[in-house]
Amino acid sequence: FPAALTVHRDFAIGALDRRIFGAFVEHLGRCVYTGIFEPGHPSADEQGFRGDVKALVKELGVTLVRYPGGNFMSGYDWEDGVGPRDRRPRKLDLAWYSTETNQVGTNEFMAWCEELGLSPMFGVNLGTRGMDDARRYLEYCCHPGGTALSDLRRAHGVEPPHRIPLWCLGNEMDGPWQIGRKTPDEYGRLAQETAKLMRMLQPGIELAACGSSAFDMPTYGEWEDRVLMHCHDEVDFVSLHSYFVKPFAPDGLLPPGADTSTESFFAQIETNARYIEATVAIADAVAARRRSTKRLMLSFDEWNVWYRARHGHHLKQGGWPEAPRLLEEVYTVEDALLVGGMLCMLMNHADRVKVACLAQLVNVIAPIMTEPGGPAWRQTIFWPFALASRFGRGTVLRPAIASPTYPNVKEGELPYLVASVVWNEDDGTLAIFALNRHLATPMDLAVALQGLGGEAGLALGEAWELHDLDLHAANTVDLPDRFQPRALGGVCVDGDALRVTLRPASWNVIVLH
Ligand code: AHR
Repeated sequence: FPAALTVHRDFAIGALDRRIFGAFVEHLGRCVYTGIFEPGHPSADEQGFRGDVKALVKELGVTLVRYPGGNFMSGYDWEDGVGPRDRRPRKLDLAWYSTETNQVGTNEFMAWCEELGLSPMFGVNLGTRGMDDARRYLEYCCHPGGTALSDLRRAHGVEPPHRIPLWCLGNEMDGPWQIGRKTPDEYGRLAQETAKLMRMLQPGIELAACGSSAFDMPTYGEWEDRVLMHCHDEVDFVSLHSYFVKPFAPDGLLPPGADTSTESFFAQIETNARYIEATVAIADAVAARRRSTKRLMLSFDEWNVWYRARHGHHLKQGGWPEAPRLLEEVYTVEDALLVGGMLCMLMNHADRVKVACLAQLVNVIAPIMTEPGGPAWRQTIFWPFALASRFGRGTVLRPAIASPTYPNVKEGELPYLVASVVWNEDDGTLAIFALNRHLATPMDLAVALQGLGGEAGLALGEAWELHDLDLHAANTVDLPDRFQPRALGGVCVDGDALRVTLRPASWNVIVLH
C-alpha cells in the first residue's frame, strides 16, 4: 500500500541534541556488578571493567549515562563508594533488596565514562538525604581543591575535578515506592533550594527536576504544575519516565478481553508523544503565569519496554543477595520495532527533548546482556538505538506523512508509517528513519526531499532494515545474532524523489549524501 513522506529543508523541528542517545547505569541487579564491572572476567581491564562490554557500549553509540540510580539513588550514601576499596562498607540497598558492596563508586564510574567518551548525568539523593548532602557531593566531585571535600577527592587519587555538567535533583519523588517520597510542595521547595545551593558552587551546571514517575500516575499534571511553580526559575529540565507495557500474566492467565495486539503495543509511540506535549504545555503554562520567557527542556531520562520481568522474583529476591538477576527482560523483534518508533518520536520532539536515557544499559532492562565469566551480546533493541545514534546527527526536519491508518481505542486513527528525517548540513548527509507498522503488507513509500542536496541532488549512501518474520524472536546467549540489521535493497533515488518498499513490521534507515 502507498504512503508518502515529504520534508523541506527550511521546515525544521530543531537541532537534534546528541544527548538524546543516552542510557542509564543504576546499582541494580547486574547492571554494575557482572555488567560493566567484573574483575575476574577474561576481558577485564586493571580497574575491573569488562572490555567486551566497553566495546559494545561504544558500538551502541551511547552519548550520555545517568548514574547511580534510579530508586537506588534515594538511599545512596556516596561516601561509601569513594576511597580505598578494602575499606568500603557493605550496605543494604532498600530499593532493590540487595547487598551493595560499593566496589564501584563515583571515581571508578567517572574513569569508565571518560575512557568511553560518555557525558555523565549524576543524581543527588533527595530521599534519605537533602540539599546539604547535594552540596557536599558536588564539592567533592567538581571543586578543584583547597577545601576538605575537594582535597579528599584528590587524596583518593583524582587530582583534576570531575566534569559533571548535568545533575538530577532526586528520582521519581512522587512514587509511593520511592525512599523519601514527597508531596509536590515538599519536593518543589526542596528542588528549588537544592538547585540554588548547587549553582552557588557550580554556576554552569544544568539541573533536572523530577516530573511524575509516569504519565499514568494519578498525580501526573498536578505534580508537574505544583513542582514547577516552585522551581521553574532554578532548573533547566523536567524529567519524564516511561516504560512500555503489554498485558502480561506470568502464569499466562490474562483477563478476558486483554489487548495484547502488536498494533496496540505500537500505539504507545503516540501515547508518549502526548506525554511529551502535555508536559511541555504544563511547563509553558507555568512560565506564562510567571511572565517568564524561559522555556524548560525535557529530560526523558528513563524509557524502554519493560513488562515481562516486572513481577515477583524479577523485582525482589530473598536473603539480600549481591548482584541478583533482577529486571532481566529478554527483548523481542516486536520490542525492537517499538524502540525504533520511539526513537523517531523522540527525534521529532527535538525542539524540547534535549536529553533521553534508554533504561538501562547492561543486563537490567538493557540492550546489552552478559553472563558472569562468559560472553556479552546484543539484545534486539540494541540495533535501532545503534543505527539511530550513528545516523541521527544534525537538524530534524518536520515530516509530512500521508499514510493509511488503523484505529486504536486509546490513540484514535494512527498512520502505519512512523518516520523522522535528520539533515546534517555539515557533511550533507540526510538520514530517513521509517517504521512500517502494518504487520502483513509491504509499504510503497514515496519520499519528497524538497530543497535538499543542491543541483546534483542526493545519492544513496547506505540503507538498513530491521525485520524478522517472527515478531517474538530474541537474541540469546546461544543465538546472539539471530536478529541484526540487513541491507535494505530496492531504494531508488532520482533527484529529490526517493522510492522504496518497506517490509511489513520493519524499521528502516536510509542514508543519502
Ligand atoms: O529503571 C528501573 C527503575 O524504574 C528505576 O530505578 C526507577 O527510577 C524506575 O521506577
